[in-house]
Amino acid sequence: MLRVGVMVSGGGTNLQAILDAMENETVTNAEVEVVISNNPGAYALERAKNHGIEAVCLSPKSFESREAFNEAFLKKVDEYDLDLIVLAGFLVTIPPAMIQKYRNKIINIHPSLIPAFCGVGYYGLKVHEAALKRGVKLTGATVHFVDEGMDSGPIILQKAVEVLPGDTPEILQRRVMEEAEWKLLPQAIHMIANKKL
Ligand code: GAR
Repeated sequence: MLRVGVMVSGGGTNLQAILDAMENETVTNAEVEVVISNNPGAYALERAKNHGIEAVCLSPKSFESREAFNEAFLKKVDEYDLDLIVLAGFLVTIPPAMIQKYRNKIINIHPSLIPAFCGVGYYGLKVHEAALKRGVKLTGATVHFVDEGMDSGPIILQKAVEVLPGDTPEILQRRVMEEAEWKLLPQAIHMIANKKL
């Protein structure tokens, strides 16, 4: 059984997609051991509790320095003996020591077709705002391994999604989630858990 930890910051719809896929066995041989949020108000924490999963909040704001947070974060993650760390809308930079220790064991979902609209400053709705501003006709989502750079690690899966006339950032975000993110992230976990990668 692959021991998975999911890191979240917000609503947690990607977390929900993972939990649903595990329940209906679209994802096999994997189990979520812990959900960690930097944001005490994240609804994702409720979703975890509703599924009987340990929900932990660790906010950089309650530490004296970023170094102190990073140390506590790594210590917390180490407690769960995880095989895979999934960043599902996690908006905190992963400490370099964690990347080193968990190399090829951290994956992230990004709401665009990398290398478009990624890197510093591109997260959440901002990604879709930028895609609409540029006038692209196709966007999508990407699951990739996390390395020291921002959205720069090896790509695991991508799926294209159409941009339609009249799209707002919110409408586009929802379509990208429904058509791409909620499928790709569980699929990547299933592939890793079943050694198909
Ligand atoms: C998702 O769209 C995810 O791709 C994005 O944040 C959203 C989280 O939604 N992540 C990034 O932008 C990372 N750079 P959720 O909390 O409902 O899963």
